[in-house]
Parts: sequence; structure tokens; C-alpha cells
Amino acid sequence: MKQFLTLALLAISLVSCGSKEEKKEENLYPETTLSAEEKTIANGKELFESNKAACATCHLPDKKVIGPSIKEIAKIYKEQNASIFDFLRQKSEPIVDPSQYEVMKTNFAIIKTFSDEEIKSLEAYMMSL
Ligand code: HEC
Repeated sequence: MKQFLTLALLAISLVSCGSKEEKKEENLYPETTLSAEEKTIANGKELFESNKAACATCHLPDKKVIGPSIKEIAKIYKEQNASIFDFLRQKSEPIVDPSQYEVMKTNFAIIKTFSDEEIKSLEAYMMSL
């Protein structure tokens, strides 16, 4: 019985030790801790470039490919004080290149499945460039 208790105690302390280690690792670089806004932008960039959203297939940061560059979109949205969030929720009309809107429209089937948080992160990333 004593032996069993010792073993059990040993196992518990090993387990709790393990979880402490994990916590320590998360905070290895406290000086690089991102602000909430930086985190949103980083999440947006990741989603933008992911296979799930595939935005990066048509939108590069600096160069027009199939779609306008992210910088061009951000510039026009800033100038016109417009909302990428509303555009992605199909609540506002295209203002960058309406003649190519049909191409962009094919993405709304996927975009519709994104949460508000995901759409906000995409907007934050695009507007940060
Ligand atoms: C198949 C190519 C393609 C993909 C993939 C694509 N886009 Fe586009 N996008 C376009 C084209 C072309 C335009 C220009 C037409 C327009 O302005 O609506 C555009 C325009 C835009 C605009 C500007 C709209 C405006 O006001 O004119 C935004 C914002 C945008 N895309 C965001 C995204 C996001 C976010 C994704 C990923 C979820 C995405 N796009 C994926 C082709 C694409």
C-alpha cells in the first residue's frame, strides 16, 4: 500500500511537472509578445495565405496578378474610408476594380463560412500593408 501511494504521488508530481514545463515554454520570449492587434494581423496573414482561404493565389502584397495587389486595395479603402469587412460580407459594392468583380465573387461561397473574427483578421492584415 505504501509503495502504491509513493508511486501514485510520484506519477502525480511528474504529470504536474510536465504541465509547468509547457507553460514555461509558451513564455520563453516575453519581449516578443504580440499586442492584440498584432496577433489579429498575424492570424489574418496566416488565413489569407492558407489553402482554406486561398486569397494569396490572386492577391500579392505589392504586385497585381489576377486580382489587385493588397497594397492597392488597402490604399483605396483608406482613401475612401471604406470597410473591407462589409465588402467581404457582401454588404458593400466593389470600389477597386468593379469590371473584374465576377472573378472575386467566386470566393464568397468560401468567405461566407468564415466567422466575423476571421473576416476581421483578414481586413486587419490587408489594411496593415
Ligand atoms: C480567383 C482570384 C481571387 C481570389 C482567390 C481572391 N480574390 Fe479578391 N479579388 C479578385 C479580383 C479579380 C478582384 C478585383 C475585382 C473587385 O474589385 O471586386 C478582387 C478584389 C478584392 C477586394 C477589393 C474589392 C473592391 O472593393 O473592389 C478585396 C477586399 C478582396 N479581393 C479580398 C479577397 C480576400 C480576402 C480573398 C480570400 C478570401 C480574395 N480576395 C480571394 C480576385 C480574387
